[in-house]
Amino acid sequence: MNQNEIILRDFELYLNYNLPSIEGFHPHFQKALREILQAGGKRFRPMLLLSIVDICSPLLVKNSYPVALGLEMLHTYSLIHDDLPAMDDANLRRGHPTLHVTYDEVTAILAGDALNTDAFYKISTAPLSAQIRIELVKILAQNGGSGGMVIGQAIDCEFEDKILSQNQLEFLHFNKTAKLIAASLLMGAVICELDEKSKTAIFNFGLNLGLLFQIQDDIIDATQSSQEAGKPTKNDGNKNSFVNLLGLDDALRYKKKALEALHMELKKLDKKLADRLNVIVKGYFNG
Ligand code: IPE
Ligand code: IPE
Ligand code: MG
Ligand code: MG
Ligand code: MG
Repeated sequence: MNQNEIILRDFELYLNYNLPSIEGFHPHFQKALREILQAGGKRFRPMLLLSIVDICSPLLVKNSYPVALGLEMLHTYSLIHDDLPAMDDANLRRGHPTLHVTYDEVTAILAGDALNTDAFYKISTAPLSAQIRIELVKILAQNGGSGGMVIGQAIDCEFEDKILSQNQLEFLHFNKTAKLIAASLLMGAVICELDEKSKTAIFNFGLNLGLLFQIQDDIIDATQSSQEAGKPTKNDGNKNSFVNLLGLDDALRYKKKALEALHMELKKLDKKLADRLNVIVKGYFNG
């Protein structure tokens, strides 16, 4: 088991011990929240955050689990809402029926709302200094809300069937996906109290990583079965996805180029950190 796999295993244990516990007599609300969190997923964002901490301040890894969980909760909320009939209308997520299919839309909407809010509770009560916690809350809010993921999702849905310019397309994907991925790395850097220059380099690397992540996600939609992907595929029909815009062959070429550019970016980072991130990039993007 390599160090990333060990961290992921321990994060999974932490998550399972810290599943939402909800008071009241609702017949299935707690079950719905727990189900989607336990369904798995790659835990890509927690892994990025925890890898930075493991390299730069290993003694703080355990204290960072609540932050990594908060990040995963916010991401999970974005997926629950993304799958709703009003958005992508998807019936499968992480290999399981989506919450609005198993239960109903009300449950799915409110489960998303709960995870979104509870994420910030987790982070604000982590065993870290008050100054660091405030900075973490700020970064997640900035990149996950109307200045990041949410505006990206809004544009993604509003402009289905409408062609975007290259600049607009980049804006869409940077906001929808890349900022939260970059924020995951930056939050790790904040926990380790890295200097401003390192934090900027790490965030910029994260934006490129996030863009590559969305390219890969769009390629998965076009090339994998829903069983392999754990979610419906061939579902990006009218979207401004990289595959729809460029065609599959050019999207694959674009991915290769983005991967090469990412390796150049890695060289700007501290060597130990770059080596560790390289393992993640290799593992996830096959290159
Ligand atoms: C899917 O995210 C949505 C995108 C931003 C592309 P992930 O691919 O990280 O989904 P999980 O967490 O592994 O299920
Ligand atoms: C959604 O992108 C990104 C989010 C912010 C949730 P997609 O709609 O492509 O994600 P999948 O393919 O359903 O996971
Ligand atoms: Mg979507
Ligand atoms: Mg979707
Ligand atoms: Mg997709």
